[in-house]
Amino acid sequence: MSENYYSETALTPKNEFDVSLRPPDFEEFCGQAKVKERLMLMVEAAKQRGDALDHVLLCGPPGLGKTTLAHILSRAFGGTIHCTSGPQIEKAGDLAGILTNLQHGDFLFIDEIHRLHPAIEEYLYPAMEDYKLDIIIDQGPNARSITLTLPKFTLVGATTRAGMLTAPLRSRFGMTNRLDYYLPEELVVIILRSAKLLGAEVTAEGALEVATRSRGTPRVANNLLRWVRDYAQVRADNRVTREVADLALGMLDIDQDGLDEMDKRILEALIYKFGGGPVGLNSLAVAVGEDEATLEDVYEPYLILQGFIKRTHRGRVALPAAYTKVGAPLPRDCQTDLF
Ligand SMILES: Nc1ncnc2c1ncn2[C@@H]1O[C@H](COP(=O)(O)OP(=O)(O)OP(=O)(O)O)[C@@H](O)[C@H]1O
Ligand SMILES: [Mg+2]
Repeated sequence: MSENYYSETALTPKNEFDVSLRPPDFEEFCGQAKVKERLMLMVEAAKQRGDALDHVLLCGPPGLGKTTLAHILSRAFGGTIHCTSGPQIEKAGDLAGILTNLQHGDFLFIDEIHRLHPAIEEYLYPAMEDYKLDIIIDQGPNARSITLTLPKFTLVGATTRAGMLTAPLRSRFGMTNRLDYYLPEELVVIILRSAKLLGAEVTAEGALEVATRSRGTPRVANNLLRWVRDYAQVRADNRVTREVADLALGMLDIDQDGLDEMDKRILEALIYKFGGGPVGLNSLAVAVGEDEATLEDVYEPYLILQGFIKRTHRGRVALPAAYTKVGAPLPRDCQTDLF
């Protein structure tokens, strides 16, 4: 099986999670209150019935906690989690191998589930619905199909692209949860928790400065925290204050809104090369030298959320805030229907 396939039990020591800053349980998982409440209730109900948990789909932009929640779910339920990802399951045999290894109440986490091969998806349907797996053994005239009964397991799927999931696959999940960008106050809690784990001294204002420049994303917040800690260690007596955080983030070219070099390159290309749009994703991707999927999944959602750009049926359009950001004059037709 692929080297990236791994499993762990609820008995995996908490410390292994701490090192990676991943919260080990619902209690330490901050934010996403609604999603958390729903999942906790689901776990409690399934545990009371002594039943396996229903299949769960987690979607949302990268770094918001999908993988973390999958692990927390399996821990809360007390099952072993087996992790793999869509592109790693190349053949039906790979999936059969994974599924037949599961035990009652186990979790199968499939990351990037939208990238599952369509033929593999077909095998997954009966496995999810009836806990059955139809496999074909032998070839040619001897080929026959046999049906294996699988233990009741829970599939947790994660995707940054819920829209790319086929309808039949999506409908087989008992619950779909969308993760949203975090509020600065939630990120402050996450940053202070991480700082404690890292043994870094961070003031409340220092944490807020990092939080507001983290694109509403815990992964970004943790990465920036590590950087400001390094900066403070070398240049500021190990203490991350608001000023220190500001200087450290300035050195990374991350501005007050959390936009980095690539964000600015995207806005500049949109405004200077394409006259503010509308421009297709493909042309924009070529202009900034980034791949389309990354542009669409990583950069655009935040730029849209912050009101810098807009997606229209004709392509991407720069909004007034984008002109202000790059210091370009607003076009005269600013009042047109494009805005
Ligand atoms: N609610 C949270 N509280 C504290 N830390 C969090 C939270 N959500 C995420 N994190 C931190 O952010 C990091 C990224 O989270 P995670 O890997 O779960 O994101 P993801 O949604 O799976 O991203 P991707 O789509 O890239 O796989 C984790 O290592 C964890 O430390
Ligand atoms: Mg993940």
